[in-house]
Amino acid sequence: MALVPSLASTLDRRIADALSAALPEAGATDPLLRRSDRADFQANGMLALAKKLKGNPRELAGQVVERLPADGLIAGIEVSGPGFLNITLTDRAILETLAARAADDRLGVPFKEHPGTTVIDWAQPNVAKEMHVGHLRNSVIGNAVVRILEFAGEKVVSRHHIGDWGTQFGMLIQYLIEHPHELDHEGEVSGEEAMTNLGRLYKAARTLFDADDAFKARARRRVVDLQAGDPETVALWQRFVDESKIYFYSVFDKLDVTIRDEDIVGESGYNDMLAETCRMLEESGVAVRSEGALCVFFDDVKGPDGNPVPLIVQKSDGGFGYAATDLSAIRDRVFNIKADTLLYVVDSRQSLHFRMVFETARRAGWLTDDVKAVQLGFGTVLGKDGKPFKTREGETVRLVDLLDEAIERATKIVREKAQDEMGEAEIAERGAQVGIGAVKYADLSTSVSRDYKFDLDQMVSLTGDTSVYIQYAYARNRSILRKAGGIAPAAHPELELAPAERALGLHLDEFAATLAEVAEAYEPHKLAGYLYQLSSLYTTFFSECPVLKAGTPEQVENRLFLCDLTARTLRQGMALLGIHTPEHL
Ligand code: ARG
Repeated sequence: MALVPSLASTLDRRIADALSAALPEAGATDPLLRRSDRADFQANGMLALAKKLKGNPRELAGQVVERLPADGLIAGIEVSGPGFLNITLTDRAILETLAARAADDRLGVPFKEHPGTTVIDWAQPNVAKEMHVGHLRNSVIGNAVVRILEFAGEKVVSRHHIGDWGTQFGMLIQYLIEHPHELDHEGEVSGEEAMTNLGRLYKAARTLFDADDAFKARARRRVVDLQAGDPETVALWQRFVDESKIYFYSVFDKLDVTIRDEDIVGESGYNDMLAETCRMLEESGVAVRSEGALCVFFDDVKGPDGNPVPLIVQKSDGGFGYAATDLSAIRDRVFNIKADTLLYVVDSRQSLHFRMVFETARRAGWLTDDVKAVQLGFGTVLGKDGKPFKTREGETVRLVDLLDEAIERATKIVREKAQDEMGEAEIAERGAQVGIGAVKYADLSTSVSRDYKFDLDQMVSLTGDTSVYIQYAYARNRSILRKAGGIAPAAHPELELAPAERALGLHLDEFAATLAEVAEAYEPHKLAGYLYQLSSLYTTFFSECPVLKAGTPEQVENRLFLCDLTARTLRQGMALLGIHTPEHL
C-alpha cells in the first residue's frame, strides 16, 4: 500500500514551513488552508498571526510567498484582501497525485496509525416482537460504522444485544405450555410466517395475562423457572429465540446487512454475570440499597419533583434489569474482549440510561481513561407530518413494509429507465439495490443524532441528494468505460486541465482525508456528503468535457482515467455505506 499525501496536506506543510521561516518567533502555526472558489485553495492564517504579533498581515503574506519553494506544486499564488493567499496548483501536481491514488488498491487511503479494538453494539431487535423503523437506524448506521472502521484497520467486534430476556418470557412460555401447538409448522417456515405466528401468540398471551389472574400467577412462576435454568422452560424459551431469529435474518437479508450468528449475544448472554456485577457494585459502595432495591445515585440526575432518580441495578424483588445487563456487558467487553472503544448505536431516547451506566462503570473502575465509551444516539424517524412515524391507524410501522414499498417504487423507476436488454430478473435485482440503497442513504446522509422525515418520494428521486442520483452517475460512468473498448484509462500529467476536470480531481484527492475524519468521529453523513458532491462534480465534468470525443488520444485516455478513478472512489465509498453500485441501470 502506498501512502499518498493529499495535495492539501502537502501544500499545508509547505505554507506552514514558509510561515515559520518568515516568523520564527511564532512557533508552529496553522496556515488555515481551505478550498476556495477564487483559486484552488485559500490560506488565511496570516491574519490572526500578524494581529497577534502586531505585524502587517499583507506584508507577512508576501514574505511567505517569497519563501515558498518553486518545486512544481504551485502554479500561481497571490496575496489578496487584507492578507489572504490565493493558491492555484499545477495541473501536473494534480494528475500525478491522482495517478498515485489510482495505482493503489485502497485509493491511497492509509490504515489508522494506532488501530485498536472496538466493540460495537448495533442491530438489536427484540425477540417475539416486530422490527420497526427504529431498528432501521441501529442496523443501517451500525453496519456503515463497522465497514468504515474495518476499512481504517480497526479490529471490530459486533455485538447484537437483542432483547431476549425478561418477565415477558414467563408469559410467553406459560402460554405455549398451555397451547402447545401455537408455534408448530411443517417444514421450513419463512421469516414472515415465523413473525406472524409469534405476533399472534404474543397478543393472545398478553390478553390472557391481563384478564386472568391465575394465568398471571403461573406466568410469574414461569419466570422464576426460567431464571433458575429449568431445562423444559429454557428449551421453550430457545424456541422463541430461534423463531425470532428466522424473522430477523429475513429482514436483515432484505436490508442487505450481514449479521453473524456468533455476534448475537443478547441480554440473556450476560445472565451468569449479573449477580456478581451487583455484588461488586455493592461491596465497593458504588451502589447502595434503597427501599430494598440496589441503586446508584447521581448528583445531576433528578426527576421532575427534584428527587434524585437512581439507576436501578437490582429491583427490590431480586430481579435484574436492563442496567445490570449493560453493566455486565461492559465488564465482558472490556476485560474479556479487551476493547479500547465501546460504541453503542442506540436511540438517543436511551441517552440517560447510557450516561448513568457509563458513569457507574467508571466509578466501579471498569471504564478507565484507556477505554472510550460512546453512545451514537440516533434521532427519531418522522412521518411527513413531522411527528414520530406511525401508520394511519396510529400504530408503529413495520420495517419490512417500508422496505417492500421502497423496493417496489425503485423497481418501477428501474423498469421505466431500463434499456430493452434488461430482463425481469435483472430489473428485480436492480430494483432491490436501488430501493434499499435509497432508504439507507436517506438515513446515513443525515447526521446520526438528528431526526429525519421518512419520505419515499424524495428518497427515490433521480435528482438531488439521493443514492439513486449517485448510482446513476456511477452507471453512466461505467458505460463510458465499457464503450471505450480497448482504450485503457491513463493519466497524462503533461496535459492541461479544464476547470471541471480540476474541480473533480481536487475532490477525488480528498477521499482519504474525508474517510479519516468520518472514521474518527463516526460520521457517515460526511461520507455521504462527499460522495454526493463527487457525483455532481462528475456530472458537470461529463457535460462540459467530451470523453471519447476529446481532441487528442492522450486527452481521451486522461479523461477515461478521471472517469475510472471517480468510479472506483464512488464504488468504494458507497460500499462503506453498505450500498450497491450496479454496473448497469
Ligand atoms: N433491544 C433494545 C431496543 O430495541 C436495544 C438494545 C441496545 N443495546 C444495549 N446494550 N442496551 O430498544
